[in-house]
Amino acid sequence: MKTIFETIKTIAFEIDNAIKTSDLGYSNSENSSGEDQLKLDVQSDIIIEKAFASVSVVKNLVSEEKEGVLELNDLGTYTICYDPLDGSSLVDVNLSVGSIFGIYEGELKGSNLVASAYVVYGPRIELVIAEHNQKPVLYRAVGNTFKEIGTVTLGKKGKLNAPGGTQAHWSDVHKKYIDALFSDGYRLRYSGGMVPDLHQILLKGGGMFSYPGTTDKPNGKLRQLFEVIPFAFMYEQAGGQAIDDKGMRLMELVPSHPHDTSPCFFGSNSEILKLKELYGMKN
Ligand code: AHG
Ligand code: MN
Ligand code: MN
Repeated sequence: MKTIFETIKTIAFEIDNAIKTSDLGYSNSENSSGEDQLKLDVQSDIIIEKAFASVSVVKNLVSEEKEGVLELNDLGTYTICYDPLDGSSLVDVNLSVGSIFGIYEGELKGSNLVASAYVVYGPRIELVIAEHNQKPVLYRAVGNTFKEIGTVTLGKKGKLNAPGGTQAHWSDVHKKYIDALFSDGYRLRYSGGMVPDLHQILLKGGGMFSYPGTTDKPNGKLRQLFEVIPFAFMYEQAGGQAIDDKGMRLMELVPSHPHDTSPCFFGSNSEILKLKELYGMKN
């Protein structure tokens, strides 16, 4: 596992360099979710594929930017499911973006995730790694290495609200929930990049990030293997919770296709409790 984390550190510097120096236009292709790919999406995907190709414990790679599974080493143990550049459409307005990695052993489902990591490319490069039975660890790039900063813990109740999805397509109960948070004094913090938005809530001690099912996207937008499950694990390890719109832990998701999405809610305990009450979920 250590080799995988070291490889992610190398990848982080390479993608950061690509973001700062490469052409920002569109490529001539779209990804499996039918979205136009930016040249930077494709370039980041290639950086990651090349970096893991020589890591023998990695059996397979599954990328948000590719259809299907890429087999690397028959004798490897882990499958890495990754979003090479999350929020890539924000690069041209110079907002923060990220990379997300879910490391699975065996069948690709939430309960088989053994570790997750994400990188934030912002004013500084930051990396957070989560493993079982310990708090996530934050690293910050200093020069050309990562310095360990400390562990990440969510408070019981936060102050930030990051509500995703198109508001005109929210359900009535979801509108009521978001309004209830604002009435309780929560402040809007939403950039449109799930990595910096979830990172801000984690580092500021708590809050709620939601991307619900909507009338135009009944299963939400965010992808289970690359986005939802890796962050669900992060939030649980940090002392928070991550559930879907029925109250099921996102760590229990079993995708039937690598690109399946799920409605998702990530927060500290108080916001999740309020969500369950208002949505009428069973505890
Ligand atoms: P990606 O750039 O990998 O396709 O993902 C972007 C995601 C996520 O970062 C963000 O929370 C969400 O898309 C926002 O989507 P909409 O603005 O379309 O709601
Ligand atoms: Mn993404
Ligand atoms: Mn992406």
